[in-house]
Amino acid sequence: MERITTPELAQAFIDEQVAAVKAQVGDKKVLLALSGGVDSSVVAALLIKAIGKQLVCVHVNHGLLRKGEPEQVVEVFRNQMDANLVYVDAVDRFLDKLAGVAEPEKKRKIIGSEFIRVFEEEARKLDGIEFLAQGTIYPDILESDDGVKAHHNVGGLPEDLQFELVEPVKLLFKDEVRVVGKALGLPDNMVYRQPFPGPGLGVRCLGAITRDRLEAVRESDAILREEFAKNGLEGKVWQYFTAIPDFKGVGIKDGKRTYAWPVFIRAVNTRDAVTATVENVPFELLQHITNRITNEVENVNRVLFDLTPKPSATIEWE
Ligand code: XMP
Repeated sequence: MERITTPELAQAFIDEQVAAVKAQVGDKKVLLALSGGVDSSVVAALLIKAIGKQLVCVHVNHGLLRKGEPEQVVEVFRNQMDANLVYVDAVDRFLDKLAGVAEPEKKRKIIGSEFIRVFEEEARKLDGIEFLAQGTIYPDILESDDGVKAHHNVGGLPEDLQFELVEPVKLLFKDEVRVVGKALGLPDNMVYRQPFPGPGLGVRCLGAITRDRLEAVRESDAILREEFAKNGLEGKVWQYFTAIPDFKGVGIKDGKRTYAWPVFIRAVNTRDAVTATVENVPFELLQHITNRITNEVENVNRVLFDLTPKPSATIEWE
């Protein structure tokens, strides 16, 4: 099959998939968990084009999304594309479940299973859904066959809630999904978004998650992203983010002693996330970002840059 590299090829793919989805679904309803990531967003836009309001998008805000993400999902899909969007504010529910849990894999399990539970509850409220759309892409299928990684889409729904799957981008690679997303009119910051783990900021607020540290991770990450975008590093660096440990350090501000958290900055490049190298971020930019974070983010008095490639570190801290 020809790789989708141009707007023309993307349009041909869209036309073909719109027809295929219409033929598969008929006048039935389709459910989609819409995270706002590239894959689910492209599937949503494609299905809105094919079947309009027969698609029900469910966006679960688990409180671990980046700054502005839930708002953008509502703006793009409900306001601009007139989609049938169910927005679920599950922030308290997730944070209550995670309170006091420090072990990374336990945190992942709680976030994953709570997500399925919330999604299941929403699915049960809806009548006449026969299909489940998923943003499965080709590497997901390859990885599942390898047994390297469990499929990270909405697996694990109970027996009585098994739907027929609609997976329009399952033969595409990520770069092709982006070309299709662009042709569908999705905003650039959605289409060219860096990878973001399912457990979100939950694995960047290290140890047991607290709301104040989570807020500091979110704000410092927003500053980092803004500065990378301004300085031509967005779309060039594969993944970049901040993390905050669960210990404080001593500092000084306006002549007064502070006792506050450090922020770690990580910026890495990789082809396949199996190994990674550290981006050579200009020192002046790092100093500027440090200045902004220590001045603008509450309860932070120090910034550190992570110099470690993978291996020996992993990309995420947890
Ligand atoms: P690591 O930390 O293992 O990360 O070097 C490799 C890539 O995978 C992402 N990652 C995850 N993605 N669920 C996800 O969907 C997860 O639990 C998860 N953990 C890590 C990470 O952001 C990086 O891109």
